[in-house]
Amino acid sequence: MKQRSVERLRSQRWYAREDMRGFAHRQRMQQIGYRREDFMNRPVIGIINTWSDLSPCHAHLRERADAVKRGILQAGGCPVELPALSLGEVMVKPTTMMYRNLLALETEELLRSHPVDGAVLLGGCDKTTPGLALGAISMNLAAIFLPAGPMLSGNWRGAKVGAGTDTRRYWDELRAGRISPQDWVEFESRSVRSFGTCNTMGTASTMNSVMEAMGLTLPGASAIPAVDAAHARMAAAAGERIVAMVLEDLRPSAILCEGAFRNGVITAVALGGSTNALIHLTAMARRCGVAIDGNAFDIEARRTPVIANLFPAGQYLMEDFYNAGGLPALLSRIADRLDLACRAVNGKTLGENIAAARVFDDDVIRPLESPVTTEVAYAVLRGNLAPDGAVMKPSAASRHLLRHVGPALVFDSHKELSERIDDPALDVTPDTVLVLRGAGPVGGPGMPEWGALPIPRKLLEAGVRDMVRVSDARMSGTHFGTCVLHVAPESHVGGPLALIRTGDLIALDVPARSIEVRVRDDELARRRADWRPPTPRFQRGYGVLVERHIGQAHTGCDFDFLEGTATVPEPEIY
Ligand code: FES
Repeated sequence: MKQRSVERLRSQRWYAREDMRGFAHRQRMQQIGYRREDFMNRPVIGIINTWSDLSPCHAHLRERADAVKRGILQAGGCPVELPALSLGEVMVKPTTMMYRNLLALETEELLRSHPVDGAVLLGGCDKTTPGLALGAISMNLAAIFLPAGPMLSGNWRGAKVGAGTDTRRYWDELRAGRISPQDWVEFESRSVRSFGTCNTMGTASTMNSVMEAMGLTLPGASAIPAVDAAHARMAAAAGERIVAMVLEDLRPSAILCEGAFRNGVITAVALGGSTNALIHLTAMARRCGVAIDGNAFDIEARRTPVIANLFPAGQYLMEDFYNAGGLPALLSRIADRLDLACRAVNGKTLGENIAAARVFDDDVIRPLESPVTTEVAYAVLRGNLAPDGAVMKPSAASRHLLRHVGPALVFDSHKELSERIDDPALDVTPDTVLVLRGAGPVGGPGMPEWGALPIPRKLLEAGVRDMVRVSDARMSGTHFGTCVLHVAPESHVGGPLALIRTGDLIALDVPARSIEVRVRDDELARRRADWRPPTPRFQRGYGVLVERHIGQAHTGCDFDFLEGTATVPEPEIY
């Protein structure tokens, strides 16, 4: 393979110049203990690390950065660690999605402004994966993504516990009076056993798997448990490989072709993955100039069944998936649907990377003829309630609700929802359609994961565990339920969701991919004439950027000024 000469590396624009600035760059590296020969005429690799004390999924990434450095050094490169926004999914409010684009911008600018030739990206918790990927795509330097890896399987009183999925499940049991407050306290400390990303096929596992399928990780990286020794070895391997990638000049633009995106979509479908993948892949595709959006998920879901028997749609957790062969094994099951010619970061094709893969447990990774569910993974709905589309996950919904007509019960905010949902006087039946608005990309802000609206307590006590719910919010990939999500345009910008009223009939027909409100057009027009846009929430700061520049769900929620394929200009060095 043709190699780039080290003298022409980007980093050497900083270090090799014979002027006062070059002196200062070399001097300041030596100030922190690097020798001249450590960084002169060697690939300098940035390790973008999203570790923080408030990101439990990434608690081990400081140590993993050391393993990455070991690999870089052994391959003859120079590692430099650059901390970035950590985005711990559970801790960051109002929602990490509000900050995905900030991490993307930060990643792009960290890489642009520093003397680095390539990058290893350390992330994995939900929004860190697309955030890092978006920035690396736009900067287009050689990059390998190292997923943080899932936490160990949870267990409580002899039953498997899935992070997120069972939190919601047992919360409902508590509200229904089926477990005690003491049980709940015990569950709190016993349900998650180690650092690492959620052990279900939630957003983190979905996106990390999709990154592997698209060629942005080393083969087999996405399912290695965070605590497994193999994870540290994978980190060192990523460090070793990125040095060669820089010399080969293998960049994201040579990996992320249309076929790679299709591979990502098909993988998400076969996994029964998170609905968040539609938003993130759409955003990534738009930055690559590839015409793939949520509709591709609907199309592929009609062809490819869910074969990963993982929470929330199935019965197992990521540790089981890893032991069953991990993602390469799953990809080998759907190989005839994939573009096997696409290249990965290791320089090989996807076909080469999965040629030796085997499934070791047919119940965890099912044969195509024995899928986990006969329902599709994703459905994109349209109708007068969602002219630009809405998304749902039939594989994690109740079959009897997939065709349903019921009266709306509308909540204008999450605060109102929280205050009213358990009111014994709430006028609600199992046929009611719960509606939440004001929770979209602008209105949320950042489209919080409020889409699995809680079931009213009095219905929980009567044994109801699912209802049709409609919102412009997202839903955690770990959750389940008949939830129509990502309604676009959102209510905050005047989408039809803003016009519906309690009592209006909502008609959901998933087989027909339809979501309608049964209100006459002239009545909707009359309500529209009365509608007034909310006053802006932010007067200054990052929130202003979000309010003014975030796109709607069907376009990937990127900032308008970050979209597109324009080359990022190199900084002037003086
Ligand atoms: Fe980090 Fe779920 S909270 S992956």
